[in-house]
Amino acid sequence: MKFTIDKNGFYGDFGGAFIPELLQYNCEELQKAFDEYYLTEEFQQEFRSLLKDYVGRPSPLYYAPNLSRRYGAHILLKREDLNHTGAHKINNTIGQALLAKRMGKKKLLAETGAGQHGVATATICALLGLECTVFMGEVDIARQAPNVARMKMLGAEVLAATSGSKTLKDATNEAIRYWINNPETYYLIGSVVGPHPYPAMVAEFQSVISEEIRSQLQEKYQQEMPDYVIACVGGGSNAAGAFYHFLDDDQVQLIAVEAAGKGIDTDETAATIQRGSEGIIHGSRTLLMQDDDGQIIEPYSISAGLDYPGIGPLHAHLHKTGRARFENATDEEALAAAFLLTQTEGIIPALESAHALAALEKMTFKKDDLVVVNLSGRGDKDMATYQQYHQKE
Ligand SMILES: Cc1ncc(COP(=O)(O)O)c(C=O)c1O
Repeated sequence: MKFTIDKNGFYGDFGGAFIPELLQYNCEELQKAFDEYYLTEEFQQEFRSLLKDYVGRPSPLYYAPNLSRRYGAHILLKREDLNHTGAHKINNTIGQALLAKRMGKKKLLAETGAGQHGVATATICALLGLECTVFMGEVDIARQAPNVARMKMLGAEVLAATSGSKTLKDATNEAIRYWINNPETYYLIGSVVGPHPYPAMVAEFQSVISEEIRSQLQEKYQQEMPDYVIACVGGGSNAAGAFYHFLDDDQVQLIAVEAAGKGIDTDETAATIQRGSEGIIHGSRTLLMQDDDGQIIEPYSISAGLDYPGIGPLHAHLHKTGRARFENATDEEALAAAFLLTQTEGIIPALESAHALAALEKMTFKKDDLVVVNLSGRGDKDMATYQQYHQKE
C-alpha cells in the first residue's frame, strides 16, 4: 500500500509524534497494545460482534432515487447516520475502548466538537464500566446541547474549554494538557489526528466503512469499485474510513470536502487545505492554518465537527500526492444541501455530512457513475441551527 505509515508513523512528509517526553511512554505503550491485540482472533471477534449487534453494522448503502435523478448518476449514501449514537464515531471508540480495557485502563479521556465523539466515548464507557471525562469547547456546548445532555446522562463528566475560539481545537488542547497531568488515563482521540500511532489506528478502526462499501457494491452492482467516494473532513476520520480500501485503486476518485465557513477568502473559514501550511499541531506534522509567526489562526464553521484548524496527516499526504481531491462547502451551501436531502429523501443529515452532500452540486457526472457519499451522521444534534435557518428563509 502506498498510503500506509512508515516505522516512525509518517505518511510521506506528514505524521510522526511531536510530543512532550512525559507522553512518550503512553504513545509507545499504546502502539505495543495495538500490535499485540488488534489482529488476534479474540479482539477481532469482540470488536466485530459489538459492531454488528451493538452498533447495528453493516450500515446500509442506500440508493437515493431523488438525488440520483437530480444529479444524473447513481447516488449512494453510506448510512453511518443509522449507527447507534448517530455517527461513524462509535466505530473508533469501540476499537480504542477495547484496547484500553486490555491495557488495564480505568478512565477514558476524550475531546469533542459536535459531541458525537463525546457521546460515543461516554456510551462505550457506560457499557464497559469505565470512567469518562470529555472536554468540549464552550461554544460547542451551547450549539450542540442535545449531545451534552446525552453525555451527562451516560455518566460522563463534561468539562468546558474556555480558551481561544472555545471549539474543537481548544477542547483538544485541554484534553492533552489533562493527559500530561494524568498519564494513567487513556486518551481516546476522536479523529485521524494526534501523535503516532493515533492517526493510523483510528483509520484502521474506521476502515470498516469502505470494507462494507466494497462488498455492498459487489452485491448490488456486481462490481466492488465506485467511480467516486465523497466525504466531509474535519480531522478526517470518516473520510479516512470511507477511502481506506480504495486508496490503491486509482480509478476511484476520492473527494474530501472541507468547511469553507463564510468562504475560503474570508477570515471565517476552516478550509485547512486551501488556507493551511506545513507545521505541527496536536503532536503531528501536517497542514494547519497558522500565521507568519506559527500562531494558530482560529477556525470557523457553522458545523462544530469541522471547525478545526488542522487536518489528519493522511489527508495532508493525499493532498500532496494528488490522490484525493479537496473541495470545500460554505455554511450556506451545507445548509441548502441539508434541506435538500431532508425534503427529497426524508433524511436529516448532520451539518458535517451536509458539507459532503453540498459537493454534489458542483460536480458533473456520467449517467452510469456510481457515486458514494458517506453520510457520517444524523442531524438531531443540529435541529436548533436548522430551525434558525428555516425561520430566516
Ligand atoms: C457526524 C460527523 N461527521 C463528521 C465529523 C468530522 O470528523 P471527522 O473528520 O473525523 O470524520 C464529525 C465530528 O464531530 C461528526 O460528528
